[in-house]
Amino acid sequence: MNATITTTMPAWLNDDYGPAGATRQGMVPTPEPGPGEVLLRVRATALNAADMRLMLGDPLLMRLMFGLRRPKQPIRGNDVAGTVVAVGVGVDASHIGEEVVVELSAGGGLAPFAIARVDRLVGRPSGVSAEVAATLPIAGGTAVQALDVARVAGGQRVLVIGASGGVGTFAVQLAALRGAEVWATCGEANRKLIESLGATRTFDYRTTDLSSIPATFDAIIDIAGGAPLRQLKRMLSPTGTLAMVAGDGGRVLGPIPRILRAVFISIGSRRSIRPVAAVAKPDINRQLIALAAEGRIMPVIEQLLPWDAAAEGLARLESGHTVGKVVVLGRE
Ligand SMILES: NC(=O)c1ccc[n+]([C@@H]2O[C@H](COP(=O)([O-])OP(=O)(O)OC[C@H]3O[C@@H](n4cnc5c(N)ncnc54)[C@H](OP(=O)(O)O)[C@@H]3O)[C@@H](O)[C@H]2O)c1
Repeated sequence: MNATITTTMPAWLNDDYGPAGATRQGMVPTPEPGPGEVLLRVRATALNAADMRLMLGDPLLMRLMFGLRRPKQPIRGNDVAGTVVAVGVGVDASHIGEEVVVELSAGGGLAPFAIARVDRLVGRPSGVSAEVAATLPIAGGTAVQALDVARVAGGQRVLVIGASGGVGTFAVQLAALRGAEVWATCGEANRKLIESLGATRTFDYRTTDLSSIPATFDAIIDIAGGAPLRQLKRMLSPTGTLAMVAGDGGRVLGPIPRILRAVFISIGSRRSIRPVAAVAKPDINRQLIALAAEGRIMPVIEQLLPWDAAAEGLARLESGHTVGKVVVLGRE
């Protein structure tokens, strides 16, 4: 891959909030790293539900932060594996040439060059491909943080609701690695896959009423978000914890009403409902890279797309039916 830094670059742009169909290629200035930042040559970018939410500008509340009328950053993609090709003020030039994986702070991954914070960089060993590494920060990191919130440990029984997506496929593998007995809900077509990742029992979410699942759980990791909280609470063991990764997705406030309901329902109860607000944690990313290098976790990549097909990746995410991850390779 050519690392010549040009002053302008092609990028996939979402100029306005809206569906993936409006994503277009255009030329933009190549960004310059500021203090504490590096410039990456992008080798692979994994897409996440957050990219799709930002693309759509949904919920509306997020527009207060990311741009009222249109996205301040029109280039989607936060999870990037790349090569450091330049450094900003205060960053040691010895970083140049490092192969890294990182969660970007402000998008920009669907471009040949992107800016990352140096304190977030995690080295990518040669045994882990760029496309595998790129899947880890947000989806893997959220799964780890959700399991931590629910204090998942060996010997516990855990239910992962919404096991087939980006976060879910990691949550199942990581809970099983902790020694938990993992039960999971997913679509019928994905049951075999989820069982191969470590779930001992799976249920088709389209035909199974959650209340008919014959067990209680020390932890529930809710990555789908649609089930009534009181019903989920009844499925917990007397000291169990529900980790809420996804909210109901209201158009204006997103997950906030569900989070408030969770607080209300938890008052005075030993069964707790706790929201997960995952943040970029390089230490967790480092652990995930090590697990991937040892073959102890295997990210599920449903689509590995060439650069020119990036808009298809955003459309796949928008469909809501991604199995594991969609990854876009860097531009040759
Ligand atoms: N709290 C946080 O910090 C945080 C961080 C990351 C993500 N999230 C949220 O977590 C959610 C999942 O993210 P993701 O990246 O994993 O999404 P994703 O990859 O787009 O998830 C898609 C998968 O979810 C499955 N699914 C949809 N509805 C389901 C249901 N009711 N029951 C079981 N499975 C269902 C789909 O299966 P079918 O195709 O069979 O329908 C599909 O395989 C999103 O709402 C995202 O915003 C939150």
